[in-house]
Formats: sequence, structure tokens, C-alpha cells
Amino acid sequence: MTYQDALNKAKEKIDSLDAELILGFIQNQTREKIFTNLNSDLSLKKFQNFYELVEKRRKGFPLAYITGKKEFWKSEFEVNNSVLIPRPETELIVEEVLKEELNKKIILELGTGSGNISISIKKENPGVIIYATDISMGALMTAKKNAKFNEADRIIFMNHDWKREWLFPNLDIIISNPPYVDKKSLDKDEDGVWFEPEEALFSKKSGLKDIKIILQKSIIFLKKRGKLFLEHAPFQAKKIASISKKLGYKELEQRKDLNKDIRVSILTK
Ligand SMILES: C[S@@+](CC[C@H](N)C(=O)[O-])C[C@H]1O[C@@H](n2cnc3c(N)ncnc32)[C@H](O)[C@@H]1O
Repeated sequence: MTYQDALNKAKEKIDSLDAELILGFIQNQTREKIFTNLNSDLSLKKFQNFYELVEKRRKGFPLAYITGKKEFWKSEFEVNNSVLIPRPETELIVEEVLKEELNKKIILELGTGSGNISISIKKENPGVIIYATDISMGALMTAKKNAKFNEADRIIFMNHDWKREWLFPNLDIIISNPPYVDKKSLDKDEDGVWFEPEEALFSKKSGLKDIKIILQKSIIFLKKRGKLFLEHAPFQAKKIASISKKLGYKELEQRKDLNKDIRVSILTK
């Protein structure tokens, strides 16, 4: 059997790009290399491994969990089922934070997952001090590995639950992409999400429960004129504006993602 035969079989079941990437993963080759060697032989054992993964993908298992990696901002991150797969829309929060003067500033990230946001910022600004926190030990272990692999290893990783007591210094910046999906409103056929950790995705009260806690506590721990950068669903933007006004935030800016949906709120104390 050749690579081409294997791909033809897989394409009956899954997207062709996914099939090519899975074959590349099995053969430890880039997609480009697979393309230039379509007539190469694939052993029966390798084909069986490949086909098992194709079947998994057909059932909705995310491609990033199969290959164990995902690109985000300018780096590659290890991902596994303890962490949310970094989403392209989350790059907006990185872009916005990088507009700030960050040298020697203290940042707290709430819910770091694979570490994608903190590591991307630290790589661009080695002088910034970052506390990257998560409730999940599995996520923290993955984030630490990613920091090491990406040579951003002076980030301070901490196990912390934002629902409990906060003990942080006067913070310049808080960043969070918290769980904000309303489980009831999620499409049952949405690709892949049902394999991701529930605590990374879902929040009660129309997805606003965790956002509210973060808004309430951040204003206490930020320095005067400190900023909270928060990712959320577009439909939550108005509610966030009204809650933050009541809580006493002085300014609110909201930024749109590439789909022109409001995705990030920037709140100044
Ligand atoms: C949407 S994911 C964000 C992951 C990553 N920062 C990103 O943007 O791709 C939310 C993260 O918050 C963490 N989390 C959920 N509830 C938490 C809590 N009460 N305290 C701290 N972290 C929490 C989850 O474990 C998960 O890693």
C-alpha cells in the first residue's frame, strides 16, 4: 500500500487535510514531505495505526489531541486532554496585552491551560513577571513543559482556584480566558469540544458565573489604573459592560476578533 492509497481510504471518512496531517504524524514527516512521497510504501502495521486514528477523528476526537500539538501565536504547544486546545481567536488577547509597556510589570493569568497566552507574552517580553495559574494540576504540568520547550521557563506556575482566596501582590495586569460556554446552548454536533475538559469550557448562569467572579475579585487585586484583559463570548459583551460599571471599573474597551465579533474586554481600574 502507498501513502496515496492510505489517504484515498481515509478521505472517505474524514477531511483530506486531517488525513494528511495524521499520516504525517504516523510517519513523523511534514505534510509537504508526505505530498512529495505519495508513491512511498506504508507497511501494514503503520496503515493499521493510521486507520485507527482516522476512525477516532471520524468520531470527533480532535486532531490536535491526536498529533499532541497545536500552533498558537508564534509557537507550538503540546496539548493533551487536560488542556483546552488553543483557539485562533484567543490570539487577540495576546495582541492587545502586547500593546502595553510590559517591562518589569506583574501579570497574573487566571486559567492558563497549556500556558499558550502567558508563554507567548513572556517570549516577546522576557522582562515581564508572570504568575500563571490554573485549578487543574494536569494543565499546570503541561504548561510547565511548554514553557521549558519554548524557553520561557521563568514563568511562575501556581495551583490556584479563583473561587477561593486570592493572595497576590499589587497587579499591573490580569489576563483570563475563563470557561464561558453555556453547556445547554452548545450544539451537540460541535466538532471536538466534547473531548475537551469540561472545567475549561463550561460555566453556569449563561456562561457568566466565572466571568462575574473574575470581574469582582480582579478590581481588588489590580493596582490603580491596572487592567483586566478578559476573553468572552460575543453575546456576553453588553452584560460585561453593565457589571463592570456597577463594580466601579473606570474604563472599558471592547475588541473584535477576525469575524468582527466582540471577543475581548479590557477593563481599567
Ligand atoms: C478556556 S480555558 C483557557 C486555557 C488557555 N488559557 C487558553 O486560552 O487557551 C480555561 C482554563 O481555566 C481553568 N479553570 C477553570 N475553573 C477554574 C478555577 N475556578 N480556578 C482556576 N482555573 C480554572 C481550566 O482548568 C482551564 O485551563
